[in-house]
Amino acid sequence: MKKNIPVEFQELSRDIQEVFLTQEEIHQRVIDLGSEIARDYAGKKPLLVGALKGVMCFLADLVRAIPIVVEVDFMAVSSYSSEERDRGVVRVIKDLDLSITDRHVIFVEDVVDTGLTLNYLLRSLQARGPASLEVCALLNKTSRRLVEIPIRYKGFDMPDYFIVGYGLDYGERYRNLPFIGILKPEVLFGKN
Ligand code: PRP
Repeated sequence: MKKNIPVEFQELSRDIQEVFLTQEEIHQRVIDLGSEIARDYAGKKPLLVGALKGVMCFLADLVRAIPIVVEVDFMAVSSYSSEERDRGVVRVIKDLDLSITDRHVIFVEDVVDTGLTLNYLLRSLQARGPASLEVCALLNKTSRRLVEIPIRYKGFDMPDYFIVGYGLDYGERYRNLPFIGILKPEVLFGKN
Protein backbone atom coordinates (compact mmCIF):
# COMPACT_ATOMS: atom_id res chain seq x y z
CA MET A 1 0.00 0.00 0.00
CA LYS A 2 1.28 3.46 -0.89
CA LYS A 3 2.35 5.45 2.17
CA ASN A 4 1.28 9.06 2.28
CA ILE A 5 3.49 12.10 2.68
CA PRO A 6 2.19 14.39 5.47
CA VAL A 7 0.39 17.26 3.78
CA GLU A 8 2.59 19.98 5.32
CA PHE A 9 5.72 18.28 3.93
CA GLN A 10 4.44 17.81 0.39
CA GLU A 11 6.25 20.85 -1.00
CA LEU A 12 9.57 19.83 0.54
CA SER A 13 8.98 16.28 -0.69
CA ARG A 14 8.76 17.03 -4.44
CA ASP A 15 12.03 15.09 -4.93
CA ILE A 16 10.72 12.07 -3.08
CA GLN A 17 9.63 9.14 -5.22
CA GLU A 18 8.05 7.15 -2.42
CA VAL A 19 7.84 6.96 1.36
CA PHE A 20 9.97 4.04 2.56
CA LEU A 21 9.20 4.28 6.28
CA THR A 22 6.53 6.46 7.83
CA GLN A 23 6.98 8.44 11.01
CA GLU A 24 4.76 5.91 12.80
CA GLU A 25 6.70 2.88 11.55
CA ILE A 26 9.98 4.44 12.64
CA HIS A 27 8.54 5.47 16.00
CA GLN A 28 7.24 1.99 16.79
CA ARG A 29 10.54 0.34 15.93
CA VAL A 30 12.53 2.88 17.95
CA ILE A 31 10.31 2.22 20.98
CA ASP A 32 11.00 -1.51 20.65
CA LEU A 33 14.75 -0.99 20.28
CA GLY A 34 14.76 1.31 23.32
CA SER A 35 12.95 -1.27 25.45
CA GLU A 36 15.36 -3.97 24.37
CA ILE A 37 18.37 -1.82 25.23
CA ALA A 38 16.89 -0.80 28.59
CA ARG A 39 16.36 -4.45 29.47
CA ASP A 40 19.85 -5.54 28.40
CA TYR A 41 21.67 -2.64 30.06
CA ALA A 42 19.78 -2.27 33.35
CA GLY A 43 22.26 -1.05 35.98
CA LYS A 44 25.07 -0.63 33.45
CA LYS A 45 24.75 3.09 32.61
CA PRO A 46 25.51 2.62 28.90
CA LEU A 47 27.16 5.33 26.85
CA LEU A 48 25.45 5.88 23.51
CA VAL A 49 27.80 7.18 20.85
CA GLY A 50 26.56 8.69 17.62
CA ALA A 51 28.49 9.77 14.52
CA LEU A 52 27.13 13.06 13.21
CA LYS A 53 25.16 14.15 11.38
CA GLY A 54 22.87 11.47 9.96
CA VAL A 55 22.15 9.90 13.34
CA MET A 56 20.68 13.05 14.86
CA CYS A 57 16.97 12.14 14.70
CA PHE A 58 17.41 8.47 15.48
CA LEU A 59 19.63 9.06 18.50
CA ALA A 60 17.38 11.81 19.82
CA ASP A 61 14.35 9.52 19.64
CA LEU A 62 16.21 6.42 20.82
CA VAL A 63 17.46 7.94 24.08
CA ARG A 64 13.91 9.02 24.89
CA ALA A 65 12.81 5.40 24.45
CA ILE A 66 15.36 4.07 26.97
CA PRO A 67 14.01 4.58 30.48
CA ILE A 68 17.26 3.87 32.37
CA VAL A 69 20.35 6.02 33.06
CA VAL A 70 22.30 6.57 29.83
CA GLU A 71 24.97 9.00 28.73
CA VAL A 72 25.40 10.34 25.20
CA ASP A 73 28.43 11.45 23.26
CA PHE A 74 29.15 12.28 19.62
CA MET A 75 31.88 11.90 17.06
CA ALA A 76 32.06 13.68 13.73
CA VAL A 77 33.77 11.95 10.86
CA SER A 78 34.43 12.62 7.22
CA SER A 79 36.26 10.90 4.40
CA TYR A 80 39.22 12.61 2.77
CA SER A 81 37.99 11.71 -0.71
CA SER A 82 35.75 9.16 -2.37
CA GLU A 83 38.79 6.95 -3.12
CA GLU A 84 39.87 7.00 0.49
CA ARG A 85 36.30 6.39 1.59
CA ASP A 86 36.32 3.29 -0.63
CA ARG A 87 39.41 2.12 1.22
CA GLY A 88 37.72 2.69 4.55
CA VAL A 89 39.83 5.66 5.59
CA VAL A 90 37.85 7.90 7.90
CA ARG A 91 38.92 11.25 9.30
CA VAL A 92 37.76 12.00 12.82
CA ILE A 93 36.82 15.70 12.91
CA LYS A 94 35.45 15.61 16.43
CA ASP A 95 36.41 12.90 18.87
CA LEU A 96 34.42 11.83 21.92
CA ASP A 97 34.40 14.14 24.93
CA LEU A 98 34.11 11.23 27.36
CA SER A 99 36.46 8.36 28.08
CA ILE A 100 35.00 4.99 27.12
CA THR A 101 37.51 2.87 29.04
CA ASP A 102 35.55 0.30 31.09
CA ARG A 103 32.25 1.73 29.83
CA HIS A 104 29.43 -0.17 28.17
CA VAL A 105 29.29 1.55 24.80
CA ILE A 106 26.53 1.34 22.21
CA PHE A 107 27.51 2.83 18.87
CA VAL A 108 24.36 4.21 17.26
CA GLU A 109 24.22 4.54 13.46
CA ASP A 110 21.54 5.67 11.07
CA VAL A 111 22.64 3.50 8.13
CA VAL A 112 25.19 0.76 7.78
CA ASP A 113 25.95 0.61 4.08
CA THR A 114 29.36 -0.69 2.99
CA GLY A 115 30.25 -0.93 6.67
CA LEU A 116 33.59 0.79 6.09
CA THR A 117 32.88 3.79 8.33
CA LEU A 118 31.70 1.68 11.21
CA ASN A 119 34.48 -0.85 10.80
CA TYR A 120 37.04 1.91 11.18
CA LEU A 121 35.29 3.55 14.12
CA LEU A 122 34.67 0.32 15.98
CA ARG A 123 38.33 -0.63 15.73
CA SER A 124 39.31 2.79 17.00
CA LEU A 125 36.86 2.59 19.93
CA GLN A 126 37.75 -1.00 20.78
CA ALA A 127 41.38 0.06 21.22
CA ARG A 128 40.29 2.35 24.08
CA GLY A 129 39.27 -0.59 26.26
CA PRO A 130 35.48 -0.35 26.68
CA ALA A 131 33.80 -2.92 28.96
CA SER A 132 31.62 -3.78 25.97
CA LEU A 133 30.93 -2.35 22.53
CA GLU A 134 27.76 -3.05 20.55
CA VAL A 135 26.10 -1.52 17.50
CA CYS A 136 22.56 -0.21 17.18
CA ALA A 137 21.65 0.70 13.59
CA LEU A 138 18.32 1.97 12.33
CA LEU A 139 18.88 0.82 8.76
CA ASN A 140 20.89 -2.08 7.41
CA LYS A 141 21.70 -1.98 3.68
CA THR A 142 23.14 -5.44 3.35
CA SER A 143 23.54 -5.58 -0.44
CA ARG A 144 26.45 -3.13 -0.47
CA ARG A 145 28.28 -4.52 2.58
CA LEU A 146 32.05 -4.85 2.07
CA VAL A 147 33.01 -5.67 5.61
CA GLU A 148 31.07 -7.67 8.17
CA ILE A 149 29.61 -5.60 11.00
CA PRO A 150 27.98 -7.24 14.01
CA ILE A 151 24.72 -5.30 14.53
CA ARG A 152 23.26 -6.17 17.92
CA TYR A 153 20.20 -3.89 17.66
CA LYS A 154 18.76 -3.41 14.19
CA GLY A 155 15.81 -1.31 13.08
CA PHE A 156 15.14 -2.38 9.50
CA ASP A 157 16.87 -4.26 6.70
CA MET A 158 16.55 -2.39 3.44
CA PRO A 159 17.40 -2.67 -0.28
CA ASP A 160 19.92 -0.38 -1.96
CA TYR A 161 17.64 2.68 -2.16
CA PHE A 162 18.97 6.23 -1.88
CA ILE A 163 17.02 7.42 1.10
CA VAL A 164 16.65 10.77 2.83
CA GLY A 165 14.79 12.17 5.80
CA TYR A 166 14.79 11.52 9.54
CA GLY A 167 18.36 12.88 9.70
CA LEU A 168 19.55 11.50 6.36
CA ASP A 169 20.52 13.97 3.67
CA TYR A 170 21.26 14.47 0.03
CA GLY A 171 23.60 17.45 -0.31
CA GLU A 172 22.70 18.42 3.29
CA ARG A 173 18.99 18.70 2.44
CA TYR A 174 15.96 16.73 3.59
CA ARG A 175 17.31 15.84 7.05
CA ASN A 176 14.17 17.46 8.50
CA LEU A 177 11.63 15.22 6.78
CA PRO A 178 9.85 13.31 9.55
CA PHE A 179 9.71 10.13 7.45
CA ILE A 180 12.30 8.23 5.39
CA GLY A 181 11.77 8.60 1.67
CA ILE A 182 13.34 7.26 -1.50
CA LEU A 183 14.84 10.03 -3.61
CA LYS A 184 13.80 10.25 -7.27
CA PRO A 185 16.57 8.93 -9.52
CA GLU A 186 16.50 12.08 -11.68
CA VAL A 187 17.44 14.13 -8.61
CA LEU A 188 20.41 11.87 -7.94
CA PHE A 189 21.57 12.15 -11.52
CA GLY A 190 21.17 15.92 -11.47
CA LYS A 191 18.45 16.21 -14.11
CA ASN A 192 16.33 18.76 -12.33
C1 PRP B 1 26.45 7.86 6.41
C2 PRP B 1 25.98 7.17 7.69
C3 PRP B 1 27.15 6.33 8.09
C4 PRP B 1 27.86 6.05 6.80
C5 PRP B 1 27.56 4.64 6.39
O1 PRP B 1 27.08 9.03 6.74
O2 PRP B 1 25.64 8.08 8.69
O3 PRP B 1 28.01 7.01 8.98
O4 PRP B 1 27.35 6.95 5.80
O5 PRP B 1 28.20 4.32 5.21
P1 PRP B 1 29.21 3.10 5.08
O6 PRP B 1 28.61 1.93 5.82
O7 PRP B 1 29.23 2.86 3.58
O8 PRP B 1 30.54 3.49 5.61
P2 PRP B 1 27.36 10.20 5.67
O9 PRP B 1 28.74 10.04 5.14
O10 PRP B 1 26.25 10.25 4.69
O11 PRP B 1 27.38 11.52 6.56
P3 PRP B 1 26.26 12.17 7.49
O12 PRP B 1 26.04 11.21 8.65
O13 PRP B 1 26.83 13.47 7.95
O14 PRP B 1 25.00 12.38 6.67
